[in-house]
Amino acid sequence: MKLVIFLAIFYKIVEMSFIFNIKNGIIDTSRKRNLLIKQIEVMNRILCLNFCQTSKPCFYVSMNYSICSLYSFYAKFFVKNGTSEVIYEKISNDNFGLINYWPIENGETRDLVTSKDLFDSNNASFTQDRFGFDNSSLYFNNGYINAPSGIYFGTEFTVLAWVKLKNYLEWQRLFDFGNGRENDNVCFSLSKSNSEPNVSIAIFNGTNLEYLETNYLKLNEWYQLGFKLENSIVSIFFNDVKMASSEINISGAKSVIRGKNYFGKSNWNEHEYKKGQFELDEVKFFEKGLLDSEIESEFKRGYH
Ligand SMILES: *[C@@H]1O[C@H](CO)[C@@H](O)[C@H](O)[C@H]1NC(C)=O
Ligand SMILES: *[C@@H]1O[C@H](CO)[C@@H](O)[C@H](O)[C@H]1NC(C)=O
Ligand SMILES: *[C@@H]1O[C@H](CO)[C@@H](O)[C@H](O)[C@H]1NC(C)=O
Ligand SMILES: *[C@@H]1O[C@H](CO)[C@@H](O)[C@H](O)[C@H]1NC(C)=O
Ligand SMILES: *[C@@H]1O[C@H](CO)[C@@H](O)[C@H](O)[C@H]1NC(C)=O
Ligand SMILES: *[C@@H]1O[C@H](CO)[C@@H](O)[C@H](O)[C@H]1NC(C)=O
Ligand SMILES: *[C@@H]1O[C@H](CO)[C@@H](O)[C@H](O)[C@H]1NC(C)=O
Repeated sequence: MKLVIFLAIFYKIVEMSFIFNIKNGIIDTSRKRNLLIKQIEVMNRILCLNFCQTSKPCFYVSMNYSICSLYSFYAKFFVKNGTSEVIYEKISNDNFGLINYWPIENGETRDLVTSKDLFDSNNASFTQDRFGFDNSSLYFNNGYINAPSGIYFGTEFTVLAWVKLKNYLEWQRLFDFGNGRENDNVCFSLSKSNSEPNVSIAIFNGTNLEYLETNYLKLNEWYQLGFKLENSIVSIFFNDVKMASSEINISGAKSVIRGKNYFGKSNWNEHEYKKGQFELDEVKFFEKGLLDSEIESEFKRGYH
């Protein structure tokens, strides 16, 4: 009997070693609400790891006395090295698909995934995010910021960003990534004009436009905006609600290097359109179409 239990535990330990990497460090949850999934009291480490193994959004797990803490994928970017604490990282074959993550925090606009750090801001400052943390969202007051050149889009993608709109300006861009005007642009407009404040997306294949518009945002209210392209279908989400969806006549956005990339500014008529008047936070670019349920989870919990 003892041997059976021993073998069972031994087998479980071996099994877990194929599922988790062991690392030293702790996960700094002090400023981010999307890291900790939950804490559970458990008898032992195997049970703790088992909870993470069977929880789809769990990618990291640690145990301190009898408290088992499960963490999301995003915890990856908030590991503090150089401590004697142990964390377990799930070895996963799932393609999470996150290619850029600009959390905007502590007065920084770094991309934690591929170092596409935002730079050269104009009329932009840091302000409180929706949880009240200082310097943790970016406020454009007739302003914008640049993103480095690179490949950001392809046949499939999802963009998520938190936005608080301040004014309905003409063709106001959440972002406009392209190579100039009518040149492979992928644009998301927060408002079209004061009289028609509708949100829209535009994808250019060269000079050829594909366009979808939907309802408008209330001013001075935080929204998680979502924008997805998959199987030639584009969709726009406000929070967890799919507002509009439509088939387009291209197989996707061109997977090319785009060199004129802005948050808060248009590639059209440089001097004609005003720059952005909104707050921006938690911007995530994925190289795949997230499920509607995953977008809902990102809105409600900050992870999926
Ligand atoms: C572990 O738990 C103890 C007691 O609750 C606490 O004092 C300590 O800070 C915790 N350690 C970590 C790394 O969270
Ligand atoms: C922690 O260590 C890992 C692996 O050694 C490294 O990739 C990562 O950049 C380090 N993180 C920090 C914050 O130093
Ligand atoms: C900054 O804002 C001022 C006042 O609204 C505006 O005149 C100026 O053009 C803006 N600067 C840039 C670089 O957009
Ligand atoms: C926010 O940034 C300002 C300007 O850099 C700085 O003076 C202030 O201490 C920062 N606040 C926090 C809480 O980090
Ligand atoms: C644009 O916004 C108006 C309200 O200003 C709304 O009635 C209309 O349905 C919206 N258009 C689309 C395509 O959703
Ligand atoms: C897409 O555009 C091409 C070229 O204009 C046209 O031949 C084709 O019928 C269009 N397909 C759809 C589904 O609209
Ligand atoms: C863009 O248009 C060209 C020429 O019509 C076409 O060959 C190509 O497949 C289109 N690209 C995508 C991604 O649909």
